Amino acid sequence: QDADYNKICEEHKHLIEAVPKGNGWSVQHLYNYNGFWLHPNSIKNNLLLHAYFKSQPTDIFLASFMKAGTTWLKALMFSTINRHRYSFSDHPLHHHGPHASFPYIDIETYPAISDFTHLPAPRMFATHYPRTLLPPCITSCKIVYVCRDPKDVLVSKWHFMSNHRSKDLPPLSLDEAFELFCQGISDYGPFWEHVLSYWRASLETPDKILFLKYEEMKKQPEVVLRKLAVFMGKPFTAEELEKSVVEKIVELCSFETLSNLEVNKKGVQKFGKFLEVENRHYFRKGEIGDWKNHLSEEMKQRIDGITNEKLKGSGLIL
Ligand code: A3P
Repeated sequence: QDADYNKICEEHKHLIEAVPKGNGWSVQHLYNYNGFWLHPNSIKNNLLLHAYFKSQPTDIFLASFMKAGTTWLKALMFSTINRHRYSFSDHPLHHHGPHASFPYIDIETYPAISDFTHLPAPRMFATHYPRTLLPPCITSCKIVYVCRDPKDVLVSKWHFMSNHRSKDLPPLSLDEAFELFCQGISDYGPFWEHVLSYWRASLETPDKILFLKYEEMKKQPEVVLRKLAVFMGKPFTAEELEKSVVEKIVELCSFETLSNLEVNKKGVQKFGKFLEVENRHYFRKGEIGDWKNHLSEEMKQRIDGITNEKLKGSGLIL
């Protein structure tokens, strides 16, 4: 296996030298790998994923563009699947950050990547890769995808990445971030192609992909949660509905509850060997339309124009 691993490292090195590069948000450069702009480590891990990851038919994946609602969905999926294991008064989500609930497969986890076998079924995993970059064994599993208004995604991502930007680089202004975002250059971008990769698949195989919108979740969390539970094969029973289990999960996973927990104010989430993120950075405002406080009318029109153009004829409205 080590020989294979070394071969992948070699391949990665050559790839990075050969593919186009653009300005990064947290690091100096992002690289265009098969149409998407990725952090060099995400490219390497994608190669590892293709080489080592073995799915199980019961696996459920959470896929999203960064800042579209991953944290929220992670908490909802974890607490829904495990609702019979834990009580709402003393729940694991009270003690660990939502991102500890299940693994994020985009960070180099080798050799653990071949060792997720101990996780109880259904195993759950999170990813930001577009569907076209996932190995076939994953695209045949159930995938929950969440998307969000790109204007809010941009603003949220700019805040988040500014907090994680290398100290060796000058700050990234919102104007620069906006320009890069419109050109598709941000981690896992272009945003529109990412969304479309899952949207189109959700039309072809609706039983395999549940396509959710952050805005709909904000407006009708209970309705969306019931849909999510059905999709994951764990519909709420009449008795559970009677006992307000849906409302309890929504409450447990709400921005207000999670962001006020000690673990999410002070705690740190480790991803792989090298990446650490303070949980508080996953909770900023949690609102629809905060872009209005950051983007000019001209910027709004430019993004909306790109969105209309790219999504034209797809049936998807954002
Ligand atoms: P804002 O920066 O607009 O506040 P991700 O989880 O994909 O990284 O996305 C983070 C965004 O989701 C942030 O948006 C964050 O505040 C918001 N968020 C985090 N937890 C949430 C929750 N429980 N409910 C609603 N929004 C949440």
